[in-house]
Amino acid sequence: MTSLDVAVERLMSGEADALADANETWRRLREEAPVYDYGPITILSRYEDVRAAFRSPHMSKNQYVEGSWTEELRARLPEQSRTILTELRSFEAMYVTRSSGEDHIRRRRVAHRAFTPRRIAELADEIQGYTDMLVAELLEQDTPDFMQFAYELPLMAITSMLGMPKVDRERVRGWAGKLLVNLGAADPATLQECYDVIMELREYVRSAIEANRRTDERTHLVSTLMAAEEEQRLSEDELAAIYANFIAAGFETTMNLIGVGFLELLRHPDQWRLLCEDPQRRAPNAVEELLRYVSPAQWSLGLPVVDLEFNGHTVPAGRTIFVILAGANRDPDVFSDPERLDIERPNARDHLGLGFGPHFCLGSSLARIEGVIAFRTLAQRFPHAELAEGPIEWGSGSALRRPRRLPVHLGHAGSVPALN
Ligand code: HEM
Repeated sequence: MTSLDVAVERLMSGEADALADANETWRRLREEAPVYDYGPITILSRYEDVRAAFRSPHMSKNQYVEGSWTEELRARLPEQSRTILTELRSFEAMYVTRSSGEDHIRRRRVAHRAFTPRRIAELADEIQGYTDMLVAELLEQDTPDFMQFAYELPLMAITSMLGMPKVDRERVRGWAGKLLVNLGAADPATLQECYDVIMELREYVRSAIEANRRTDERTHLVSTLMAAEEEQRLSEDELAAIYANFIAAGFETTMNLIGVGFLELLRHPDQWRLLCEDPQRRAPNAVEELLRYVSPAQWSLGLPVVDLEFNGHTVPAGRTIFVILAGANRDPDVFSDPERLDIERPNARDHLGLGFGPHFCLGSSLARIEGVIAFRTLAQRFPHAELAEGPIEWGSGSALRRPRRLPVHLGHAGSVPALN
């Protein structure tokens, strides 16, 4: 094994030290082996290749049902778990994220209706309200754990968007965690847990729809989705899959943007001061730069249906491809001085942090508005914020790495400290 093999192995297994050093490993991959074979998968880490994979009409999203990676996983499982895996994955195959071709177009079109500009504007008002409330909670503590804020805000936003009552928020948190663990699950217990979540979610959506049928006060999302069902463009299971997909795709990603984003801003006090000087104007580009620099979703995957060539290497049909967004987002061929956080970077918006092409993030407007409101408000309220001393322990796996805790000193509210 080469030292690069060891670094990749440690990162992919989610070891804390390797997660802390993830950007170094992605850099090595980009420079030393931009098309890298790792067991049953091929990893792409250069911007050009990642973008080409995203836009290729020959990449399917069925990688959780078939292809080299899933086949290897299936072979390792006992017979009974294989059946659970098949059922679980056939439900998840109805996610927009995992659909291809005509099914993808149809499901995406319906799911898209959840994000009309009017609905986003309504949600923005709610998100500002939640942010102010969470800021007030931060003010009550000496050294708050900022990850708590980073987790609460997207949880409130996603449950509002899904039209779920407050009492169900913790359920959503539990569901999200389990749905995501399943991303690379190879053990029967995790698969069973995830299967149970899906069953619970299906039931939840079914009763939400039932409840909505009996009343005129339909929540926005449920009525939008029900209209599609009534026009026979979606089945009830497909509706449940859209719910599950929003929870799996929209919660922990946004949590990372806010949590790791704040960490990086405080690690770069010059950039934090710059933002604090004019939060209203600078927050939108700062969020783009953080989507690039942090890459809240570090990687994604796909399955070539024909042999595809990347950077002179052929990846055969059926071999699962991992695309490293975090590698692409720091590619010096596209971003000058890529290791530098620069909230005024002119081409920050060229990042691939929200994907690219036909599967470009459906929740991008919600993710962006959450980021802008969070960082704008934090910069207005806490210009003296600093990281508390002590090491940061990373966790939660290679796809969604983030600190387990993020103790901060928020300092007194007030004017922006002078640049020195
Ligand atoms: C900072 C936050 C977010 C990040 C970094 C992020 C990232 C991504 C990425 C990289 C993709 C493309 C995946 C691929 O092609 O394999 C994607 C797709 C998607 N995202 Fe997001 N996302 C975020 C927030 C959200 C939110 C808030 C929602 C919904 C509430 C959402 C829903 C979706 C859906 C449904 C797709 C699938 C689109 C399709 O396949 O056509 N995302 N996201």
